[in-house]
Amino acid sequence: MSERGEHSNNPHGLLKAKSQMGASYPERCMSDSKWTDFEFQCMKRALEVAKNGIGQVSPNPPVGCVLARNEEIIAEGWHDHLGDLHAEQAAIADAESRGVETQGATAFVTLEPCNHHGRTPPCTEALLWAGINRVVIAAEDTNPTVRGGGLEYLKRANIDVSQGLLESEALQQMSSFMHWCEYRRPIVTLKAALDCNGNVDSISGPPARFTSEESLDEVHRLRLQSDAVLVGVNTVIRDNPRLTVRRVNLGKSSQPLRIVLDRRLRTPVTSELVTDGNDTLLLHCEENEKSVECETILIPSLFSERRKRVDLEQLLDLLGDRIIQRLLVEGGPDVWGQFLSEKLVDEAYIFHSTINLEDGLKGGIDSKILENAGLVLINSENIGGDRMDYWRKS
Ligand SMILES: NC(=O)c1ccc[n+]([C@@H]2O[C@H](COP(=O)([O-])OP(=O)(O)OC[C@H]3O[C@@H](n4cnc5c(N)ncnc54)[C@H](OP(=O)(O)O)[C@@H]3O)[C@@H](O)[C@H]2O)c1
Repeated sequence: MSERGEHSNNPHGLLKAKSQMGASYPERCMSDSKWTDFEFQCMKRALEVAKNGIGQVSPNPPVGCVLARNEEIIAEGWHDHLGDLHAEQAAIADAESRGVETQGATAFVTLEPCNHHGRTPPCTEALLWAGINRVVIAAEDTNPTVRGGGLEYLKRANIDVSQGLLESEALQQMSSFMHWCEYRRPIVTLKAALDCNGNVDSISGPPARFTSEESLDEVHRLRLQSDAVLVGVNTVIRDNPRLTVRRVNLGKSSQPLRIVLDRRLRTPVTSELVTDGNDTLLLHCEENEKSVECETILIPSLFSERRKRVDLEQLLDLLGDRIIQRLLVEGGPDVWGQFLSEKLVDEAYIFHSTINLEDGLKGGIDSKILENAGLVLINSENIGGDRMDYWRKS
């Protein structure tokens, strides 16, 4: 790898700017009066084009860049997919492709330019080569091996450098990358669908979908932006889910890793997760001779002594080591309950359907439980007739 993620040993998987996935970041930028309207406009555009890389560039963050001169945007670029040009290089290439002179331009970049050699030369060098004489960044690269290095290099080369323009927006857009750089763990996103009584499934009937087509699209979008999707084994047995990205374009991204918490290794060997050829990881706590055609990890009892179950804190460390930056927890109630009671959920998407499942299985999720888990309601949206509540750690 040569991307930003590579120097940081990163993974992949990103967020949705619209709903501002991820942990919240404090506003650290300097007073707004420091910036002109045009500068705001440029960085807003850089954040806008960065969205093109969401779900495509993990383990790198989505980054956008705009080149401007004389109060006019002359070029723009973004990190489009893993292995492709970085945003600064893409913006320079955009100018070149149209014969636009970059000499003396200002670059507005949503993340500090990289200063290391990977598959491509450092973006700092590309900016110098293009004759850029001012660089404005939204956020610093918090990776300890990079922090400040790009800015220092530019300053030493007598480039005028400013930072902090729309910083909190940029940090939000890159939240899983930033979170992983800081904690070496994934951001945990919980997704649940509830009927009008807070139930998640029918007890007597066959498994049935009760949310709208549009809500389903949202769930697939969440999967696209996640590096891994986790469920408990009862959900696998009951629903035989695939947990892949199908309803939205996967682009050049790869399917998320499916993870099953399966203490006794009960996952049926014929289940979709085992047989469909995509990656699945079964985590179990008891020895078992069963042969399953996917990766299994026996978590030693030492690891889970407290409850004879996979310890979720240690699970997050393990996933962080695998450079999983965003984990989507899709259920069921037993699994949600553990993540919530241990306050390990960073954000939650709760889909409320108007359908009544009658003899339903309780989801164990309501406002009080989410608040007790340290989450606050950020916004509610109508998604094809369902209400989607977005909660985030305060
Ligand atoms: N509406 C929705 O959004 C939605 C989403 C998902 C699922 N569901 C529904 O939810 C129901 C299943 O939920 P559920 O609460 O019964 O079960 P679940 O959460 O799917 O799975 C629970 C089981 O997983 C294993 N497990 C859980 N935590 C573990 C840990 N920390 N370490 C190791 N193993 C662990 C345990 O297996 P052992 O018993 O072997 O110990 C446990 O019984 C289904 O009806 C499904 O359709 C609904």
